[in-house]
Amino acid sequence: MMAASVSLSRSLLALRPGAPVAPKVSVRGPDSLRAHGAAVGLPVGCAAVPELLELTGERAGERAGEGHDPYTRTVIEQAGILVAENSMKWSRLRPTPTTFDFAPADKLFEFAGRYGQLVRGHNLCWHEQLPPWFATTATKENAESLLVQHIQAVAGRYAGRVHSWDVVNEAIHVPDGRSDGLRKSPWLALLGPEYIELAFTTAAKADPQAKLTYNDYDIELDTEEHVAKRAQVLLLVRRLHARGIPIQAVGIQSHLQASGPRPGAGVLSLIREAAKMGLEVYITEMDVNSHALPGSADLQDAAVADVYKQYLNLVLPEPNVKALLTWGITDAHTWLNQSKQPWALRSDGARQRPLPFDDSYEPTPAFFAMRGAVDSARRPLAPADIMAPEKDSKDLYAPFAVPGSPGVAAPPALPASVVE
Ligand code: XIL
Repeated sequence: MMAASVSLSRSLLALRPGAPVAPKVSVRGPDSLRAHGAAVGLPVGCAAVPELLELTGERAGERAGEGHDPYTRTVIEQAGILVAENSMKWSRLRPTPTTFDFAPADKLFEFAGRYGQLVRGHNLCWHEQLPPWFATTATKENAESLLVQHIQAVAGRYAGRVHSWDVVNEAIHVPDGRSDGLRKSPWLALLGPEYIELAFTTAAKADPQAKLTYNDYDIELDTEEHVAKRAQVLLLVRRLHARGIPIQAVGIQSHLQASGPRPGAGVLSLIREAAKMGLEVYITEMDVNSHALPGSADLQDAAVADVYKQYLNLVLPEPNVKALLTWGITDAHTWLNQSKQPWALRSDGARQRPLPFDDSYEPTPAFFAMRGAVDSARRPLAPADIMAPEKDSKDLYAPFAVPGSPGVAAPPALPASVVE
């Protein structure tokens, strides 16, 4: 409600000729999502497209982000943790069965190192975005070595630099009718249900430091479909945990809808069941889809922001929820404005507004809803939440670097009278 009236009155103001332009609210530096997350010990960030990130462009002595294009600047300023939207999937990393293309992923790590950002890995084993050669090349005989070698090569390359890996993505699909809920994926057909354990144990050996995560979607609501899927996800995670398979986290993707049922007690119980097993939980891919919500941009904004507020106020206070990422940072690049699927297209042809920044890189009401929820999720900072920055990183919080930290001019010496 609040968000609707704020943005409505702002647009009415803009329509009045000669009306004073309202001062823009600061969302940078200490006012950013990144800084507010850091202040409560919660890494907050987004999925990014490495090809769009500018690694050069900043001039010496300038505040981080300045001198960059708006996309790069927003990612630097707002994200304390990044994940590649597509660049670390099989289809992008594996042009042929025998070659790897690490260039975009390497670039993401270099970028994150430069700006003191954590990196999530997404993903090592999934039924989608497999390269075209996979269907004709993978057999029951070679699938195990394909999967193991892939994980060794990819997780091994970035070992020690990854906050958490989505080791297995979206392995549950109840409509496929199996009693264990497993999706009838190529991996299941080739290797049987054990492919999941194989992926986790191989990842643990390749990168013992990353938190190994099972990641899935449609497990947030209390609808029949989500309840059934959530139960199977929990059973899978419990089976892995009980058998001593190295798994440390559950990723709840959180692709939510602006209209229809809201998340409630069910998702909280999943988070608490994970806590009982000592597992962390990450909100890994949050966005709010308004394809089915008729009405103006202001109405979309208000509904989207309300979902952010309600959902994040529900889940962030849980102490084992240890990271929050949106799936993109700006409506200009969201997959929901790129997809031609019926679940992404609005009947009025308008663009979707699912993220904290709009097409012009202005903060949306969702930004303020998100930041407010992060603020109210205050928890003590555990030493395990802090990862050492990379060797070449200037400062963990580069955009508001402290004078005297690496790469930032030393503060002027204090006059003797003050020191005294
Ligand atoms: C999506 C990307 O955003 C799109 O660009 C791509 O075309 C398809 O994949 N769940 C996931 C993500 O785990 O990898 C998906 O990303 C979105 C749903």
